[in-house]
Order: sequence, then C-alpha cells, then structure tokens
Amino acid sequence: MAKESMKITPWEVSGNIDYEKLIKEFGVSKLDNKVLERIKKHSKKLHFMLDRKIFFAHRDLDWLLDEYEKGNKFFLYTGRGPSGPIHLGHLGTWIFTKWLQDAFNVDLWFQFTDDEKFLFNDLSIQEIQKWTYENMLDVIALGFDPGKTHFIVDIKHIGLMYPEAIKFAKKITFSTVKSAFGMTNENNIGQIFYTSMQAVPAVIPSILKGKNVPCLIPLAVDQDPHFRVARDVYPKLGYYKPAIIHGKFLPPLTGVSGKMSSSKSEVAILTTDSPKEVEYKIKKYAFSGGQSTVEEHRKKGGNPDVDVSFQYLRTLFEPDDKKLERIYKNYKSGKMLTGELKQILIDRINNFLKEHQKKREQAKKIIDKFIYKPSTSVS
Ligand code: TYM
Repeated sequence: MAKESMKITPWEVSGNIDYEKLIKEFGVSKLDNKVLERIKKHSKKLHFMLDRKIFFAHRDLDWLLDEYEKGNKFFLYTGRGPSGPIHLGHLGTWIFTKWLQDAFNVDLWFQFTDDEKFLFNDLSIQEIQKWTYENMLDVIALGFDPGKTHFIVDIKHIGLMYPEAIKFAKKITFSTVKSAFGMTNENNIGQIFYTSMQAVPAVIPSILKGKNVPCLIPLAVDQDPHFRVARDVYPKLGYYKPAIIHGKFLPPLTGVSGKMSSSKSEVAILTTDSPKEVEYKIKKYAFSGGQSTVEEHRKKGGNPDVDVSFQYLRTLFEPDDKKLERIYKNYKSGKMLTGELKQILIDRINNFLKEHQKKREQAKKIIDKFIYKPSTSVS
C-alpha cells in the first residue's frame, strides 16, 4: 500500500512522518552529538528526551550556545493555542521546556494564542477564555518557576503585542503565507495575519530591556513553519533570529504516525482523564506490536518499535534507560505480553496524573503570579 504523503502545518499533521526527510524539507539541522555535548557542558546531565532524540533537530543552537558562553543569557519562549484540553503530547514538550528552564536558570515567556483559536476554530471567545484558564493550570502544574515564567495572552496583552506584530506583518507577504501554509484566497484575513502574532514573543524581552536578548523556542515540528516564515524578518527589524529546538510528536493511541490531538479525545490521554478512562483508552485503542495469540506471541515475540505503549514509555514515562531496555527485550522476545506492557503504561500514567491533577488544583491559587503585568520585573 502506498504511504500517505506527509503534511505538516501548524493546523494539520497527516501522513507517515519521516523525520529524516523533514530535516531536509524544513531546512533544519540534526541535533547531533557535538551539539548535545555542548549542551551537556552547561546542564551537566542530558534530559532523556535529548539522549533518545525525541528532541531531534534545531535551528541556530550553536549560535545560542556561543552567546551563552560569552555571558549573553537567553530566554525560552513557547506557547499553547487554547482550543481544548491538554493531552500528553503537549505535556512532553513543556516537561522538556521546564528542564531547560532549570538547567540554564532562564526566564520563560509562554504565549496563549486565544486570537489564533478564534480565527481558526469554530469557538466563541468565551469558550476560548475558559480553555485559556484551564490550560494555564496544566502549565503551572508542571512546576515552572513563577518568578521566571511570564504568561502572555494575545487578546489581553494586545497593547504589548500589536505595535510589534504590525512590523512583522508589513514584511510578510500573502504569497509567502500561501506557500508556507497552503493558504488560499478563501482564508479569512485574520488567519493570514496570525503568524506575525506568534513571531512577537521572541522579541518581547529585547523590547522591555532595550537590548537584544537571545531566544530559544522549544516546540514540536508542526509549529516550525511560523518561525520559518518570520525568520528573515527578525534581523530586518534589528533583532536576533530566535534559535529553535524541535521535538517529535507523541503519536495518537492508534498508531506510531501522526500526532496526538485533543480534537480526537478518544485516542488521546487528557490531563483530566480519570484512572478508569486511562485504562479503558489504553486497553481499547493503544496500537499493539504484539502477535494475535498468546502462543504466537511467546514464539515470535512482539515489535516494540511500532507498539504505542512502548513508545509512550520511551518518550515520557520511563526515564531509566536500563529499565526501558529490559522492557524492550522482554517484549521483543515474547517473554512480556501486550497486556502486561499496557498495564505498566496504565500504572505509570495514572501515578503521574494523580500528582498532576493535585498540582492542577493548587495552581488555581497562584495563577495570577504567572500572568505578565507591566510592573513585573524581568530578569
Ligand atoms: P498547540 O496548542 O497546538 O500545541 C502546544 C505545543 O505542543 C506541541 N504539540 C505536541 N508535542 C508533541 N506531541 C504532540 N502530539 C503534540 N501536539 C502538539 C506543539 O508543537 C506546541 O509546541 N500556535 C501554537 C501556540 C504557540 C506556540 C508558540 C507553540 C504560540 N507561540 C511558540 C510553540 C512555540 C499552538 O497552537 O500550539
């Protein structure tokens, strides 16, 4: 059967994702051992998502590290389009962002693009505001430092955003946006403008401090096209180009390709799922690399490389390389059955979510500390 061709834009991910091909098509650099060694020099240890190449590509990371070594500290910038609940894929990207914040002791600017979700989805402003609040709780629950983490919400902070966004908009043509995102004359004019809003947070600290500050953006590859479009504009406006570090997608429960998405909530694990829901979804939907009968599985073994439960352990829930290796071998040899592998994952996710949901509740009391105010002092 012919492989469905890969399509990756911020609003659509489909087909079989070939990350090697993507590196060439997007014009990004592989995160090779040389760069990883440079990161390690400062962070002491490498996060397992780097060792395992879950974060696998970058733009201008060498430049960012050169600046860091000269004493020119960077800040982190990432974001969320608040159109629904948070799933484990989003969390992976932000768990890694939190590690970067701690490892380099840097500020994080976190953008909530309520305008984007209004322009691209069939949701009211009120619904999006509710999701903005709910999604903020998930971000805070991951333990970001309130003194170093600044939330900006596009509509709320439009006074800060707009004067800069129009400068980007003036230098990006409709024809560029058409070819980068496949937009047509039928797209509404807000959608055409939107990339300029996502470009802005990469320069906010530079504006506030009155001097250029390097920026590093952790994201999954679907968000890269915005920055590909905006990249050449930064220097034209007198700013540094931001560096980017790209993560792979956590797949949906049903398969190793594509991305987990909250619009297909039956095949995504949401941060608000109950233990029973987690168990049900994994038992029913998690694509298995096992054989069809126990006898056959014992004889031929399973395939952990396509097994979604194994991939979730590798990407998020089993940081210990030795334990992961043991699971890999036992599953491949047929010693471990699919039901046993799924149970390991169910237990891991439920333990994680129990804590996360507790912290999510506590986050309600401190949310205000994270929302950027002009009086906030920025280190
Ligand atoms: P959004 O809300 O679609 O996604 C938020 C972040 O999660 C990543 N992501 C995933 N990572 C791993 N596996 C998945 N299955 C998966 N699905 C989503 C996204 O790449 C993203 O990093 N427009 C943006 C919000 C935004 C932003 C930014 C993101 C504003 N500024 C700067 C990254 C960097 C959005 O709608 O993301």
